[in-house]
Amino acid sequence: MLSVDRIDAFYGDSQILHGVSLTVGEKERVAVVGRNGAGKSTLFKSILNAGPRVRGRIAWEGKDLGAMPTFRRARLGLSLVPEDRRIFDHVTVLENIAMARYAARPGVELEAPEAVLARFPMLVPLKDRMGGRLSGGQQQMVAVARAIAGRPRLMLLDEPTEGLAPVIVEQLARDVNTVCRETGSGLLLSEQNLWFARQCTDRLFLIDTGRIVFDGLWQDLDDNPDLKRRYLAL
Ligand SMILES: Nc1ncnc2c1ncn2[C@@H]1O[C@H](COP(=O)(O)OP(=O)(O)O)[C@@H](O)[C@H]1O
Ligand SMILES: [Mg+2]
Repeated sequence: MLSVDRIDAFYGDSQILHGVSLTVGEKERVAVVGRNGAGKSTLFKSILNAGPRVRGRIAWEGKDLGAMPTFRRARLGLSLVPEDRRIFDHVTVLENIAMARYAARPGVELEAPEAVLARFPMLVPLKDRMGGRLSGGQQQMVAVARAIAGRPRLMLLDEPTEGLAPVIVEQLARDVNTVCRETGSGLLLSEQNLWFARQCTDRLFLIDTGRIVFDGLWQDLDDNPDLKRRYLAL
């Protein structure tokens, strides 16, 4: 469904990604793991054409996306939850979720915001609270709920667990698993938290200094403790 073929990405003159390739099939759940500064966010922004200058081929359902702008990629069903979440401070949780309709694919029937909210048990009692008055974990859940509300075909979650308390991380893993299964959305997840990434995905790509240095199943990573030491400092 998504195919990234040997892309290079640049900020100004500095090259951040070097020949990165990956694929995500329909309804597949895949992780990109790597330490701080490895290039995870740059990769996700490149897929959405939302920042870096990109060379190489990014295709969706076999069609090269070329220079297609971000909003049109969203309307193909690619939904990015960026690392800074971008929740609206001055509207409520429910209204934040309702905003999803503006990024949705044309012609797709959306669930009512209340029904989406019900998929995230922790958010239900907070539905009328302003976005700016939520904890980091609650904001992350709203960001995921808003993404799912647009009925994406592939949700890209950029380091959702960063800075979250362990109990919230566990709840988020349950919610992400459930919504992906129930809505049929695929998942491309960037993480440093290997426990979370393992809960939510079936296989992974390991990225370091802008290059994919390993890809395989989680079991394959376990069979290579050297990789973890070298690239994840574990
Ligand atoms: N807007 C930017 N301008 C210039 N360099 C950037 C920008 N954003 C990120 N970088 C650099 O790109 C590299 C990869 O960063 P990033 O993709 O954010 O990594 P990660 O998400 O894996 O932590 C880092 O060296 C970072 O300093
Ligand atoms: Mg990042």
